[in-house]
Amino acid sequence: MAEPTPALRKQIERLRDALTKDGEEKQASSLAGILIAAERLRELAPSRIERSRASLLGETLGRNTPVPVDRETAASLADIIFPTEIDGMAPLFDPTITQAVGTIIDEWMNFEALSTVGITPAKTCLIYGAPGTGKTRLAYWIAHRLDLPVLLVKLDGLVSSFLGTTARNIGNLFTFANRYRCILLLDEFDAIAKVRDDPQEVGEIKRVVNALLQNLDVRQNIGLTIGITNHPKLLDPAVWRRFEIQLEIPKPSFEVRRAIAEHFMPPVEAPDSHLRLIAWFTEGSTGAEIESLVRTYKKATTIRKEDRHGLLDTLRQFATLNAARVQIDRRALLFDDSINLFKAMHDDPTLGFSMADIGDIAGKDKSTVSRWLGRQANAGIDCGVTHG
Ligand SMILES: Nc1ncnc2c1ncn2[C@@H]1O[C@H](COP(=O)(O)OP(=O)(O)OP(=O)(O)O)[C@@H](O)[C@H]1O
Ligand SMILES: [Mg+2]
Repeated sequence: MAEPTPALRKQIERLRDALTKDGEEKQASSLAGILIAAERLRELAPSRIERSRASLLGETLGRNTPVPVDRETAASLADIIFPTEIDGMAPLFDPTITQAVGTIIDEWMNFEALSTVGITPAKTCLIYGAPGTGKTRLAYWIAHRLDLPVLLVKLDGLVSSFLGTTARNIGNLFTFANRYRCILLLDEFDAIAKVRDDPQEVGEIKRVVNALLQNLDVRQNIGLTIGITNHPKLLDPAVWRRFEIQLEIPKPSFEVRRAIAEHFMPPVEAPDSHLRLIAWFTEGSTGAEIESLVRTYKKATTIRKEDRHGLLDTLRQFATLNAARVQIDRRALLFDDSINLFKAMHDDPTLGFSMADIGDIAGKDKSTVSRWLGRQANAGIDCGVTHG
């Protein structure tokens, strides 16, 4: 295998498959190891640029390619998602994140040009951040852009209650991923680390983490691997270090929240004041939460077209159902006297609402609004406008 021809490779693959079929796992996996090592050599050989590309590409995954299964339960260890099945919408992030992601994609798109100067793009990427910030969507979008299928690891299927089986599953899965041209996606990656809590399983966990480390090391030079976690602290530090790129996805800023609200709004048309108010009230919320708020807003505006108070009602409903997620003072304002709410909207520099904007939300004209606010500022008289 120092100079493998495609025919020789094919023969060895056939032998490996036959051994697997006969249950000769050990021999099959050492043949798989030889195949991977050969791939690696080819890729590292500097005079072999065109081959290095081929080795990266690997075999093409088809709809009927059988994915590895857990031997005890026969549950499949992964799902294949083809680029055509992925929604091509880019997730919305702050410019620094968007730019960083753009760089990763650019490097991969220019793989060949980079390899002529002896550089390979980063092949391992860990994405972490709060639930609902768009991490999974980002991974799929990268796959869509690179036109690569995703091999989505089913971690619940991977972790077996049988001693040694988890490590073997990991091995089989990586062997499979290394053979084909794909992105290996380890979503909710901390699930493997979680087993750690049980003191009874210390030996098994060591084995699992070791298997993971070894396999990540081999794969390092073969294909793109993306790990995703909500709990980076749960990950073993050695596993953590294996990832060349460690990308944190923060909660969205005001402008991004506005853009997310706008993105999910069509076909309903919302005035800019509504989008900004949604962004204002969702400070500290994630994209997934804004998406669900927008859905509620769309329902409300479609059902009660004439009701100009719809947005405030929707926000109150959101604040009630997401009590812990809405900032306490903004939440209190929503349920306070409307005048105080409108005053806060007027005074907030981020929101920067004009009297006309507030009138738009309150369903009144702008002179009524300025009369309210003026009166409230001067005499503190409650003009009797309460929610809804
Ligand atoms: N930044 C964003 N831009 C656009 N849509 C977003 C964004 N963040 C979240 N969403 C919406 O929320 C949905 C859920 O996001 P996603 O599943 O990617 O979150 P996640 O970070 O993987 O969450 P978890 O950690 O819970 O798995 C997405 O399908 C998308 O519709
Ligand atoms: Mg996710």
